[in-house]
Amino acid sequence: MTYHCIIVGGGIAALQLAHHLKQDMKILVLVKKTIRSGNTYRAQGGIAAAIGKDDSPTLHYEDTIRAGGDFHNYKEVANLVKEGPTLIEELLQQGLSFDHGSDGRIALGMEGAHSRNRIVHCGGDSSGKWVAEHLIRMQKPDLDIRENRFVFELIIDPSSKRCIGVKAIDEDGHIETYYGRHIILATGGVGGLYEHTSNDPSITGDGIALAYRAGADIVDMEFIQFHPTLLTGDNRMVGLVSEAVRGAGGRLVDNAGRPVMEGKHPLGDLAPRHIVAHEVFRLRAQGEEVFIDISSIDNFQKQFPTITELCEGNGILIKKGMLPVAPGCHFLMGGIAVDSVGRTTVLGLYALGETAATGVHGANRLASNSLLEGLYYGRKLALFLNELPEELLLFEPDSQMWTNSIAEAALPMQDEIRRKMMQHAGIIRSGAGLEELFQWLDRYNCDVPLEGKSISDMQTIFMLQTAKLIAKSAFLREESRGAHIREEFPAESRHFGNTHIIQSRNGIEMRDRHREYDQITIYA
Ligand code: SIN
Repeated sequence: MTYHCIIVGGGIAALQLAHHLKQDMKILVLVKKTIRSGNTYRAQGGIAAAIGKDDSPTLHYEDTIRAGGDFHNYKEVANLVKEGPTLIEELLQQGLSFDHGSDGRIALGMEGAHSRNRIVHCGGDSSGKWVAEHLIRMQKPDLDIRENRFVFELIIDPSSKRCIGVKAIDEDGHIETYYGRHIILATGGVGGLYEHTSNDPSITGDGIALAYRAGADIVDMEFIQFHPTLLTGDNRMVGLVSEAVRGAGGRLVDNAGRPVMEGKHPLGDLAPRHIVAHEVFRLRAQGEEVFIDISSIDNFQKQFPTITELCEGNGILIKKGMLPVAPGCHFLMGGIAVDSVGRTTVLGLYALGETAATGVHGANRLASNSLLEGLYYGRKLALFLNELPEELLLFEPDSQMWTNSIAEAALPMQDEIRRKMMQHAGIIRSGAGLEELFQWLDRYNCDVPLEGKSISDMQTIFMLQTAKLIAKSAFLREESRGAHIREEFPAESRHFGNTHIIQSRNGIEMRDRHREYDQITIYA
């Protein structure tokens, strides 16, 4: 079957892309679970946009750079924040209704590291669900969405080296082959590789493993954000407690009720996420419990219906006013290297949203910039693809060649990967721990054909592959920057501040940061 565009993933970036593509394009969306099961759908935070009277894109830009450890693609950040208000206006024009304050204006929430109230929400802390439902409603009626499809291979035409399609396997083990002119990966981040995460557990970096196996450049995989406040119940993480709760007055306290962030950062509870996560992690490692004291927040249940439901479902009493929290993996800032429209280094292959490293988040994403990123790049890529001339797709279908014949070790349990990632590539990392991790990971050969394997084995191989990329990159970056904290290199380094760590099937390259992504040789 041949399509104009095949989109792998069904979150905000994928839906925004599909919506903005030309009416007459034949589009296929393949999702691993269901269109309503990804990270967008569970996003509690809203969309950051400089629409307040006291705000400007310049202030939003400055906050983004400050929170992200000044490791951004500045041009991309500038364009993103400039477009924020237009994207909100577009959603309004389409009929999406944002939450309003008592003054009748759109309510603007506060989250960590923002200098202004600039987060728009819908349905309180259910923004992701509302935006996703809105975008699903906006799709063309003939959009072909196929759920429960695990995409396990990108098909590369051997003569042109162009990505021309995908192979997917359905729940019953049937293999399907789809061809398309443009293949877009929008599979989200890597939270499901970690024992503790705010992500849907199915989000395991599949797009990154696929792109790597197909020869694309993967960049700065060490930059992974840990959210400081996942709700804990019975010693497990049961969901997220949005930063908006601290924005509304919630305070982090220890067992004895002492404020956790006092004296730790000028922004206190609303310090950049990595700083708060580090502090909560440090206290819990000493055996302390950490809570968010919500007693000062009026109408908590009404403002935060999703968190209320999570608490009720896990026996946590809201009326006690103390929500037990711990940090967990939240967001990937690195990913597949792309240029300013989302082209990867493989012809015909694109990446969008959290899967892509656009350079807008630097080393640590500013709260609520991710839904904004999905909206911005989803539309931008659509406008780019809409303008491309129609060309005939001529190809010689052939799967990638896997020549490695090393005997395969029995695969580990997926939970073992998650535990090891949390332990060694988690909030605080050490060279020794990372070395132990990648030596363990290297026992497993990922360079193998997947057809004929079970979905679970394919999934484990992808998890191992993406974990290797994270472990190697985290080991090589000998500095602490943004969300990447190295025990033995506690400060930022000037050298690494100018260095991207690029991995591909050709090896590892340390590349000068000031050669921005859109200046790299695409399609080399
Ligand atoms: C949150 O609501 O705390 C998460 C939002 C985000 O990650 O941007």
